[in-house]
Amino acid sequence: MSKTRVAVVFGGRSGEHEVSVVSAKNIIEAMDKNKYEIIPIGITKDGKWLTGEKAIEQFQNNDYSGLEEVTLNTKSGSKELINLKSDGTYEKLEVDIFFPALHGPFGEDGTIQGLFEMANVPYTGCGVLASSVGMDKLTTKALLDEAGIPVIPYLGFNKHAWDQNADEVVHRVLTELELPVFIKPSNMGSSVGVSKVKKKDELKKAIEFALEFDHRILVEKALNIRELECSILGNDEPKASRVGEVIVGGEFYDYKDKYVDGKSTTKVPADINPQLEKTIQAQCIKAYKLIDGAGLSRCDTFLDKATGEIYINEINTFPGFTSISMYPKMFEASGIKYADLIDEIIKFGFEKYEQKQLKKVSFDEAGDWFK
Ligand SMILES: Nc1ncnc2c1ncn2[C@@H]1O[C@H](COP(=O)(O)OP(=O)(O)O)[C@@H](O)[C@H]1O
Ligand SMILES: [Mg+2]
Repeated sequence: MSKTRVAVVFGGRSGEHEVSVVSAKNIIEAMDKNKYEIIPIGITKDGKWLTGEKAIEQFQNNDYSGLEEVTLNTKSGSKELINLKSDGTYEKLEVDIFFPALHGPFGEDGTIQGLFEMANVPYTGCGVLASSVGMDKLTTKALLDEAGIPVIPYLGFNKHAWDQNADEVVHRVLTELELPVFIKPSNMGSSVGVSKVKKKDELKKAIEFALEFDHRILVEKALNIRELECSILGNDEPKASRVGEVIVGGEFYDYKDKYVDGKSTTKVPADINPQLEKTIQAQCIKAYKLIDGAGLSRCDTFLDKATGEIYINEINTFPGFTSISMYPKMFEASGIKYADLIDEIIKFGFEKYEQKQLKKVSFDEAGDWFK
């Protein structure tokens, strides 16, 4: 049997470029070389697609010498990368499936997924809708809320509303949510632009800081929480992993804690009762189906220590995927090894692609109802 040619795409135009390179390095190392022929594709911070045998190591050292620049042939179904030579000739690289191991904007937000859809090529993970919804906190919350999945009380507004009437925004935050609150840019990740506000006079600065990253802002009541996460795998009938916990070192799980001098620790499986674990798994599956998740996602929930209520905070459609990241750790605790997870994700990518090629509209009476 011939090998499956997998283009693992990493790096990218996002603040999580470096984490993505590490995720891809681990993925490539774990992949069975008897089954897969791997084409590493690094995307530079300015958007160039580069390939070469040592692309991962070179990206880690910011050394791009000798790497070949390729572009995706967007002619529908051609499934190839084109390497345009300086002498005007070109070379084609055939690809069976793309594996975007990208985090954040231009990788996890539906944009590269849209490119793959236009080219009609198989790719792993969530599609355009789930990726773009998962990346946008206000949209995720509005959808969850509408579907009856509990979310922490929140307000949302845009830059225009702030510029027009900042006093009204402040008034509504203070009366409808009360302090302390979290201020977050809607379309971001890695805690970038997120602040916790305890005093009224800090509110304006925190909102203006968040507005540097997005024009839409989410304000959320700050609760005393435990952070419980669950990994999801699959397409229309996804499964949930054991639930894990992130025990935060500082005031909240901020960028520094995540990537610089992580004081937080993790516990997999989390120390919670089986009933609560089941509830979290069920809520996460419901949320995943609601946004039309595919392949994988990590669903992050907050447990309110005061009331015991579970809230879904966010759905990360391409969570950290190094061999020690929470996503694989939670599946490892559920009996699925890292390399097998990668096989499954690739299998689900092909399955989704084939389902799309059928172009049949079906109505399944026993299917899921969201409302
Ligand atoms: N409403 C809240 N109450 C308490 N802590 C929160 C709340 N919202 C966010 N946090 C803290 O801030 C961190 C980052 O917020 P999150 O919404 O997960 O943003 P990101 O998408 O950047 O990870 C969380 O992991 C948690 O520690
Ligand atoms: Mg988070």
